[in-house]
Amino acid sequence: MLPVRPASRGGVGDISRPAGQRRFKSLPGLQRPMTDGEPPSGPVPAGPGEHPLRIGIVLGSTRPGRLGEGVARWVLGIASRRTDAAFELVDLLEYPLPHLDEPIPAAAGRYAHDHTKAWSAKIASFDGYVFVTPEYNHSTSGVLKNAIDFLHAEWNNKAAGFVGYGAAGGVRAVEHLRLVLAELQVATVRAQGALYLGTDFVDRRKLQPDPIRERSVVAMLDQLVAWSRALRTVRGPAGPT
Ligand SMILES: Cc1cc2nc3c(=O)[nH]c(=O)nc-3n(C[C@H](O)[C@H](O)[C@H](O)COP(=O)(O)O)c2cc1C
Repeated sequence: MLPVRPASRGGVGDISRPAGQRRFKSLPGLQRPMTDGEPPSGPVPAGPGEHPLRIGIVLGSTRPGRLGEGVARWVLGIASRRTDAAFELVDLLEYPLPHLDEPIPAAAGRYAHDHTKAWSAKIASFDGYVFVTPEYNHSTSGVLKNAIDFLHAEWNNKAAGFVGYGAAGGVRAVEHLRLVLAELQVATVRAQGALYLGTDFVDRRKLQPDPIRERSVVAMLDQLVAWSRALRTVRGPAGPT
């Protein structure tokens, strides 16, 4: 028979605490108690002498009549109340990219086309990203995947969070995006926003989110700002990219 170890108290993965009182190991930016299913919240203050973090909110839908614009603007409204980062909406409609037309893979960083160079400069200017993604056929949108594929180093060693939306909250779209971004060395935070067509949109058209949705977005932004700041040290002093 295997020896039975005494239960630890108060450490990582301590199951002796009542539900809702477990703690994860203390990490910068994650120092509050972590309740079950509810990530820590509260902004992480900027460090002395740090330049403000820049976070791009990438709107991943270009469809006429898209609900995504309302979602992205709602996220921007929540984010703009923070003082620990500057947030900017990045609308793919303003960066019209054809189906990937660069002859050399993006990892080489040798871009032939002006539309790629403009997109590169915009994405390189950020320390982290919020991807606002619709769910199309259990994945993200083709236009967002295409825009991601256009670049490489611009994404590397940065952090990302997500707000998905759709009939099922966009959760499968976000899972696919996490896999794609892992290949680009983007660290994706656990907390995520999810908006459901049936409950967060009046008549499945006008955004009117359940008040609880905002808490998820705030938790996601807390984690995103902390990781975006931490990953600056990996990229060095040169700036966002
Ligand atoms: C081509 C297409 C496929 C879709 N597939 C799904 C799906 O697999 N799961 C889901 O929950 N919703 C799905 N939907 C519903 C969309 O998530 C919903 O219409 C959403 O508003 C789309 O985002 P947009 O309005 O910003 O384009 C789909 C919609 C479209 C247009």
